[in-house]
Amino acid sequence: MASPEILVVGGGLTGLRAAIAAHDRGAKVTVLTKVYAIRSHSGAAQGGINAALKNHPEGQDDSPERHAFDTIKGSDYLADQDAVETMTREAPHRIRELEAWGCPFSRFDDGYIAQRPFGGAGFPRTCFASDRTGHVILHTLYEQCIKRGIDFLEEWQMVALSRTPERVVGAIVLSRLTGALRALPADAVIMCTGGYGRIYGRSTNAIINTGSGMGIVYRSGVPMEDMEFVQFHPTSLVGTNILMTEGCRGEGGYLRNKNGDRFMFEYVTMDHPELAPRDIVARSIQTEINEGRGFEGGYVHLDLTHLGADHIMERLPGIRDICLQFAGLDPIEKPIPIQPGQHYSMGGIDVDPDCSCPHLPGLYAAGEAACISVHGANRLGGNSLLETVVFGKIAGDAAGEYVSAIGADNGAAGALGAELDWQGRRIDNLLSASGDQNAGQMRLQLKELMIDKVGIYRDGSALEEAVDEIRALRARFNDIRLTYRGLKYNLDLCRALELEHKLELAETIALGALHRAESRGGHYRVDFTERDDADWLHHTLAWREEDGSTRLDRKDVTITSYQPEERTY
Ligand code: FUM
Repeated sequence: MASPEILVVGGGLTGLRAAIAAHDRGAKVTVLTKVYAIRSHSGAAQGGINAALKNHPEGQDDSPERHAFDTIKGSDYLADQDAVETMTREAPHRIRELEAWGCPFSRFDDGYIAQRPFGGAGFPRTCFASDRTGHVILHTLYEQCIKRGIDFLEEWQMVALSRTPERVVGAIVLSRLTGALRALPADAVIMCTGGYGRIYGRSTNAIINTGSGMGIVYRSGVPMEDMEFVQFHPTSLVGTNILMTEGCRGEGGYLRNKNGDRFMFEYVTMDHPELAPRDIVARSIQTEINEGRGFEGGYVHLDLTHLGADHIMERLPGIRDICLQFAGLDPIEKPIPIQPGQHYSMGGIDVDPDCSCPHLPGLYAAGEAACISVHGANRLGGNSLLETVVFGKIAGDAAGEYVSAIGADNGAAGALGAELDWQGRRIDNLLSASGDQNAGQMRLQLKELMIDKVGIYRDGSALEEAVDEIRALRARFNDIRLTYRGLKYNLDLCRALELEHKLELAETIALGALHRAESRGGHYRVDFTERDDADWLHHTLAWREEDGSTRLDRKDVTITSYQPEERTY
């Protein structure tokens, strides 16, 4: 196995864009990914990617500044405004780059890239490829990686970061196929490992989204930022919680309660109230359900029937397929049963706007794994795909510059060897452990408690219970027993390693939510219902102490041009 100068961890959109940028800076790059890159969760992104292209007649007044304002207001003023301005300024460039690389965006009749309305903008700003936008961008970027001859280590799982006191020196990685454990030297590591959705029950995320990239970094002594801010997508399919894209509402879909009422008119004063920001729509749906206006089983309807077959077949063919396959209904004829589902993590690895980690030279992070922070307390739909390509490139550029500037190896071999030994013992212990705790059951318990007690509506006593229950699960982890003890494709082992990270991250989420005594964006406390800028207009940092406990700290929000004001829609 050749040593990369830059190790990119994660083969989704952010990882691929970072790899391209770092390669183009002359670095030797390897992408490590636990699934084949084109099976990454980015491929599940449906509705689109925001950029002020002004291709729609209603979007003629759009601009990067207006996009920045909508993003900051949507974030409930917790986003770092310098980072948001970078994202919205770069957006048109990244879209045109994708277009030049052959990305098959949907088009208007005049040939320009089509745009649809998404929440928080009020007019069409979201570029799309029917309802398979993530899929087509993923393949476009993968082609660019293959063209450049970038190395991929597929079906390898990162187990630990290796560092000296001064900097990153590589990673310890496990082959899922053979069980081999390796020390992989690297001068810089870019974490592009996505989110932790599977900590929660009812998530739109793929099974691979366990948050272990964040968990590994947290264990290496780097803080997580804003972990209490969790996004619930308003519309996930009841049963599987597969995403029903915001594009359904962008194309004109309605939300109706069991009385057939378009209830969003009760919550916001907008012409198309279904396109309020996600936190507001998700809470409104949950309120309808909680107050008895939802259907038995806890859901409401997403109604597309008035859009007509031709429109649905052209703009939302994937949604129709999913409904046919997983719900046995045709949305051309019947409304779709939906409920909010965990979708995205606003929090993540604390990094600066150039994606470098201020706490550990050589470490970079971008995409959902990172908190840069461009989404603050609530992300707008369509800004996630944008973040991947904008900050993937920025991370690759910054890491490329860093590795060409640093000198020769200083102590890497010793640190890598020690970490390899330590992780080898950790894995041996797991394989031979003879406790009585079943990791699968613990995973389910964690999911249930997170959705019940750290969900859309939160209150102090339930959050206290959640913290206690998570700590009890962490204690039980010491007594787990794997059912399969072999090395080859031992997913029991891989998932146990991930569970340990899930439990630690869950504690940062619940503790952050308990601590933050206000309501802001996706964090809603029924016992503190107002936003409180005097006390809480700051980011939360969660540090892991030596004994494994969590210490909370705060960090200033960067404000440039947009002073916090009341957030009305
Ligand atoms: O609804 C969607 O298509 C998801 C988009 C996003 O999370 O940005």
